[in-house]
Amino acid sequence: MKGVLLSGGTGSRLRPITHTGPKQLVPVANKPVLEYAIEDLKEANITEIGVVLGNKGREEIQELLGDGSEYGVDITYIVQGNPLGLAHAAGCARDFVNGDDFVMYLGDNILNEGISDLVESFEAGKYGAGIALQAVDYPGQFGVVDIDDDQNVTGLVEKPDDPPTDLALIGMYVFSPAIFDAIERLEPSWRGELEITDAIHLLLDDGYEIDSHVVTGWWKDTGKPEDILEANRLVLEETTLERRGTVEDGAETKGRIELAESAVIEDGAVVRGPVSIADDTVVKSGTYVGPYTSLGPNSTLDGIHIENSVVIGDSTLTASGRIVDSLLGRCTNVESADDHLPEGRRLVVGENSQLKL
Ligand code: DAU
Repeated sequence: MKGVLLSGGTGSRLRPITHTGPKQLVPVANKPVLEYAIEDLKEANITEIGVVLGNKGREEIQELLGDGSEYGVDITYIVQGNPLGLAHAAGCARDFVNGDDFVMYLGDNILNEGISDLVESFEAGKYGAGIALQAVDYPGQFGVVDIDDDQNVTGLVEKPDDPPTDLALIGMYVFSPAIFDAIERLEPSWRGELEITDAIHLLLDDGYEIDSHVVTGWWKDTGKPEDILEANRLVLEETTLERRGTVEDGAETKGRIELAESAVIEDGAVVRGPVSIADDTVVKSGTYVGPYTSLGPNSTLDGIHIENSVVIGDSTLTASGRIVDSLLGRCTNVESADDHLPEGRRLVVGENSQLKL
């Protein structure tokens, strides 16, 4: 079994954060989303991984993942170029897959229970594909399956106006090599993409059985800012957080806090977990960092109140106001124009932004 990790696409729904970098590198609890996928593949004993790259952020992704040895996997890079669809991306991996079964993992998705069950269930039968499903509130935003009374998949449709069920295809699939012949027969969809959902439907038409696996734990497609915040909250909620950095006497800390070795919480600062604070970040006196916040590396917080937010890094937040539910891109500078600020602004700020509140 091989792994194909999709890291192309445009990241348009995460703009401005993704103007300069790929969405798969946006950090959740101070770890790029893509790393969670690599860990899941490794945990399912899949160590030969093809990473499909688009036009954006190729170098950054290669710089982060390298040859995979740091993660205990072996990475091959496959260039897709323009995002012509998930099925097109899979098709680009045909030579890499070389006749094996493979897991296709969407690089902007996070799943708390991993993919081992999905892989084992596929391997235990004779299937054309294995799909992971979850009931969602807005199925029209996803690929959706139709099922019969015995829970067998009878149809699949991408982002339907009138969804047949609320069961969405989530971003992990297992394929037999038969998928490649289905992909070759595809026509572009209404959105101009070669849809993997349509390719799986062709497998059904060809008489292959589809193994479906309903995922009960949480799953997040981190395509939008609010999804990043939600994923950050969910990951902080359940990971073990270690305090290795400095907490000065007089600092007030409560709850679980991940503090990187060179991070500092100064005398007079208040930090309430779960919170993650990366290397070379300083939380100064008079600052409040509230639950479900991740502070990226090399940042200074001085006097600000921040909670339920992600600060990607290299930022300076010196305003005396309150920031909530916000995603701040790299190199953000938030300072006070004067001492009086209204409470609780919501911000989604791109890289190199300057805010005067
Ligand atoms: O998140 C689950 C959904 O993912 C499924 O329910 C849908 O059936 C499936 O089509 C997909 O929908 P999205 O519209 O959310 O896919 P998105 O364009 O965001 O792409 C998903 C990942 O694949 C993302 O990491 C970018 C990458 N990608 C995307 C395209 C279109 C590529 O590598 N190449 C591509 O051509």
